[in-house]
Amino acid sequence: MGCSGRLLGPVGGRRASLLLTMILFFTYFFYCLTGPCEPLPPALLLPPPAALPDGAEAAAGPGRAALSGGSRRFPQAIIVGVKKGGTRALLEFLRVHPEVRAVGAEPHFFDRCYEKGLRWYRSLMPRTLEGQITMEKTPSYFVTKEAPRRIYNMSRDTKLIVVVRNPVTRAISDYTQTLSKNPTIPSFQALAFKNVSMGLIDTTWSAVRIGIYAKHLDNWLQYFPLSKFLFVSGERLVSDPAGEMGRVQDFLGLKRVVTDKHFYFNETKGFPCLKKPEGSSRPRCLGKSKGRPHPKIDVQVVQRLQEFYRPFNMKFYQMTGQDFGWD
Ligand code: A3P
Repeated sequence: MGCSGRLLGPVGGRRASLLLTMILFFTYFFYCLTGPCEPLPPALLLPPPAALPDGAEAAAGPGRAALSGGSRRFPQAIIVGVKKGGTRALLEFLRVHPEVRAVGAEPHFFDRCYEKGLRWYRSLMPRTLEGQITMEKTPSYFVTKEAPRRIYNMSRDTKLIVVVRNPVTRAISDYTQTLSKNPTIPSFQALAFKNVSMGLIDTTWSAVRIGIYAKHLDNWLQYFPLSKFLFVSGERLVSDPAGEMGRVQDFLGLKRVVTDKHFYFNETKGFPCLKKPEGSSRPRCLGKSKGRPHPKIDVQVVQRLQEFYRPFNMKFYQMTGQDFGWD
């Protein structure tokens, strides 16, 4: 999602307001003709100006706000990372839960669109009723230096979910994604090494850098205690989605509604898929860009990277108190 968000344009906004004004006018007229002319029922009342939170709400129309129920809240939980960890799968699985409402696209507020302000951010959120959890996912937050401070300033109670995956496989997955968009990029090996013969890894390459989880986590721990985090194993999300979803629901204080009944393994895709995704009664797998085949990488390159990550992985296991089994 770009920083322009999904705000209605000036023309769309005007049209929507006109339409809503007409609906409200007719409702009021009808109400007055059929009974004593009392104030409008609360559900039809325009919220006072102070309750109109921001541009988008105003553009969407205050009438709609009052009619559809619920309100837009800041997310109480955010999937902050990591890119190619399995973040889309996790969000789609969570959206099956009736108590979870989430933004579909990645808002990129705490990294790219921060200058838009918190009111703009909140306007992107879906409406929730009391007790429901608002969520979003933007995997680049995990490697954005300013993100922890900014999220802390929004709410220090925000729950943070990080889906992590073997950093070597993650790097290859990341490279596969870039390659799919630009087939002329250099080979994985050429990008991963500063000096191939000496085995020097190029840590400035983002595909490598993102996988140094301990370093990024260190930055987050300056603001949030470990208890605010849940680390989801990207590998287990594939091999045992229901088990991993159990942990996620517990962490979010939700009833374990998403269980093994919701998943089936799609042999063609080679991944677990949802029997009934949110808003649909048909089984669905994630799109083609999720779970794609990776190019073959030389075994020595993989081993060298594995060696490179080992100390950082160990540190990460120590910090989180979880052994992800990558080494
Ligand atoms: P690959 O395409 O490299 O296999 P993200 O959503 O964070 O970009 O992560 C993408 C990765 O999610 C995919 O990487 C895939 O391995 C993983 N994944 C986990 N569960 C999946 C599922 N049920 N369907 C498809 N991909 C899934």
